[in-house]
Amino acid sequence: MQESMAELFLHSPQTHILLLPLLLLPLLYFIISKHLIKKPRNPPLPPGPTPCPFLATIHLLKPLTHVSLAQLSQTYGPLISLKLGMETLVVASSPAAAVEILKTNDRTFSARTVPHAVPLTASEIERLSFWGDALSDHLKNVRAICRAELFSAKSLEAQRRLWQEKVAEMVGSLRTKEGAAVDLGRVVFATVVNVFGNVLFSEDIVGVEEERCCNEVRGFLRGIIQAISAPNLADFYPLFVGKFDPHGLRKKHRESSERMWGLWERVVRERRRSAEAELKNRDFLDALISRGFTDEEINKLFEELLTAGIDTTTSTINRTMLELLSSPESMIKLQQELHSVLNQDSLTDFPLEQLPYLQACVKETLRLHPPAALLLAHRARETCLVMNYTVPRDARVLVNVWAIGRDPTVWEEPVEYRPERFLNSTRDFKGNDFELLPFGAGRRICPGLPMAAKIVPFLLAWLVYSFDWSLLDATVDETFRATSQMVQPLLLIPRARKMSPE
Ligand code: HEM
Repeated sequence: MQESMAELFLHSPQTHILLLPLLLLPLLYFIISKHLIKKPRNPPLPPGPTPCPFLATIHLLKPLTHVSLAQLSQTYGPLISLKLGMETLVVASSPAAAVEILKTNDRTFSARTVPHAVPLTASEIERLSFWGDALSDHLKNVRAICRAELFSAKSLEAQRRLWQEKVAEMVGSLRTKEGAAVDLGRVVFATVVNVFGNVLFSEDIVGVEEERCCNEVRGFLRGIIQAISAPNLADFYPLFVGKFDPHGLRKKHRESSERMWGLWERVVRERRRSAEAELKNRDFLDALISRGFTDEEINKLFEELLTAGIDTTTSTINRTMLELLSSPESMIKLQQELHSVLNQDSLTDFPLEQLPYLQACVKETLRLHPPAALLLAHRARETCLVMNYTVPRDARVLVNVWAIGRDPTVWEEPVEYRPERFLNSTRDFKGNDFELLPFGAGRRICPGLPMAAKIVPFLLAWLVYSFDWSLLDATVDETFRATSQMVQPLLLIPRARKMSPE
């Protein structure tokens, strides 16, 4: 049999010697590329404390507060990272770091880390909730509806009459308690809750005098807030925990939500019955029904607006009162301004633009006591470079606006309550000044900002204008002032004002 030239070539020993290096080439390439060629490496994670496997787990059960995170950032810098279980947490604590998160890379960080305690499936979140992705159609749509029907200049003007009614009720009720100690926190809470009830579905939610009912509503609002903010092992080890609810927080949230929906269940039912005929109230509920919103969609939207709006608004008003009582000079300046502009007999006249000191007081409170000290958790949609560090995909990202508001390189005498610092300054909280971010900035900025910016000064003005206040308990110390939540009741004594302040 005759062998072909090719076969001869392949079987000759010289050919084997020639082919050997060729066959080894991929292996050689692998070794050289791995060990000898210096590949560009990703920059490291932002600096932070080295995780210790055992302690880290115990640490997860303690809340990481804005104060402890601010202390860490003093050691490690304005952008830090921490390993919490399987999760990477990144915290920005300077205006420059906040710009990177909320402006330069706003799109990347506009997703949210949804707490395990939120009792919704992933598809329900995308379909029903503010926890959804900022780029989703649902969120764009719902933010647009809120803007048009609740927070536009026209809607806010239309709500003014209703705010006046609720404020008149509040002032009337306080007049009957002159000289006695009142829990101002509860009175303000009831007023704010009823403003929301009337704006959303034209009904009061609580009686101003009904303590039990007020406590009940406060209880389930707090229930939801505590469930989503408490440390939860399920957030740190999602793969191991799955649907298991280790601390019962999901259950707590679900129960509180369902009790809250009971507040408007009857109204929605009645409104739907009359819906065919005519939606006369022209409140937010009518607007939603006429847009075809289902009961499930209405429940979730109302629940989230109330949870996000009531505690923040109430605590800002209470905090300002407390700061003004601890700073009599500021209180007198504010009273003088209010007396030169407002008129007791006409709550309708409220020219906010003529009340710069009032606006400065609100800004100063929000600088020192932003109700959402770390904003709500954002999430990195993809791996991203921030200040020459790598922030990995799915990292939980917080902005410590409390620390930024007290940064001594930005603010003179940062812990002092000095509204004057805003009088000749253009600094505002609308999301353009990254030294003052109580409402956040960018795609995720608080949608309720236009309402909060009007209703907080409105309520505050009538409280300060109508009464002289004194603290029942003078033990309000620095610790009380330093916490973000006002845990103690704010007990004050109102005395009706009879003449203008000196
Ligand atoms: C002084 C009052 C208020 C403050 C300080 C405040 C602050 C905030 C902050 C910091 C966020 C998160 C921003 C972020 O994660 O980047 C937020 C979100 C939100 N706020 Fe407010 N808020 C206030 C009042 C209100 C009011 C009155 C409403 C509604 C009536 C409201 C509705 C919401 C909603 C629905 C969200 C979630 C938005 C989203 O995730 O896209 N807030 N707010």
